[in-house]
Amino acid sequence: MDGQNTWSWWPNSEVGHNQEAKKEINILFGADAFDTPKPERLIRRIIELATNPNDLVLDSFAGSGTTGAVAHKMGRRWIMIELGEHCHTHIIPRLQKVIDGEDQGGISKAVNWQGGGGFRYYRLAPSLLEKDKWGNWVINHDYNATMLSEALCKLEGFSYAPSDAAYWQHGHSTERDFVYVTTASLTHEQLQQLSDEVGPERTLLVLCTAFRAKADAYPNLTVKKIPRQVLSRCEWGHDDYSLQVENLPQAPSPPAPLPLAGEGRKSKPANAAQGGLFEEGEA
Ligand SMILES: C[S@@+](CC[C@H](N)C(=O)[O-])C[C@H]1O[C@@H](n2cnc3c(N)ncnc32)[C@H](O)[C@@H]1O
Repeated sequence: MDGQNTWSWWPNSEVGHNQEAKKEINILFGADAFDTPKPERLIRRIIELATNPNDLVLDSFAGSGTTGAVAHKMGRRWIMIELGEHCHTHIIPRLQKVIDGEDQGGISKAVNWQGGGGFRYYRLAPSLLEKDKWGNWVINHDYNATMLSEALCKLEGFSYAPSDAAYWQHGHSTERDFVYVTTASLTHEQLQQLSDEVGPERTLLVLCTAFRAKADAYPNLTVKKIPRQVLSRCEWGHDDYSLQVENLPQAPSPPAPLPLAGEGRKSKPANAAQGGLFEEGEA
């Protein structure tokens, strides 16, 4: 090392090598499940250098899930993204073994990993909007009324809870504040009728594709258009993506078994010595 150049030499005795990585993967998944696995010791070195306990580690191309597994064992939170089917066949089972303390390979012994923590799993829905042949944003045809209503509730910060009693109650933010989602174009008469039904004690956000009335004509209604309202929640074309994520998904409660579609989570009470990695979300 001199004043100008800083050398960093990571010998395989410290951070492992390809054969070690292959062995780790073979123990977890059977022979040659992945072409280019990295040894857990290498990822440990990187995570140690770049993060502190409880930091978030992102691997947007998760592969076999080594980064998430190592981050988890090191007391970091993690986000992994994967589009391949091995998300289900490999990554989820691998992380379940880590949480259950059954994965004693890789760096487990070195960090005295005993199990603990949990994770939530989400499947991305198709894009809510698409462009029509004239280049205008329209609601994606894959979305039926239920999906649209559920998606807009999430986007607007309402709990999706359709009511049998009132057709316009698709979700609520408080006991008195509701949301109604429709692909219809609403007339003044329809909005006035809605306003009368909602009454002076309650408020309603109306999300429709069009309306023929003055948006502020009804004291208890806020009327907005889809897709404009959806687009106002999206950000793109920025140099700096400091996103305004206001409505992060909440952990479902009570805990549900891990589903194959939709969303879910898997967790085990955190080992006292390890501390909980996702305590906020755990029931
Ligand atoms: C080489 S592997 C990643 C290895 C892993 N990060 C590691 O360090 O061992 C790349 C993975 O990225 C996934 N992938 C590729 N394009 C993707 C995308 N657009 N979104 C999510 N995953 C993607 C592939 O399916 C593949 O599993």
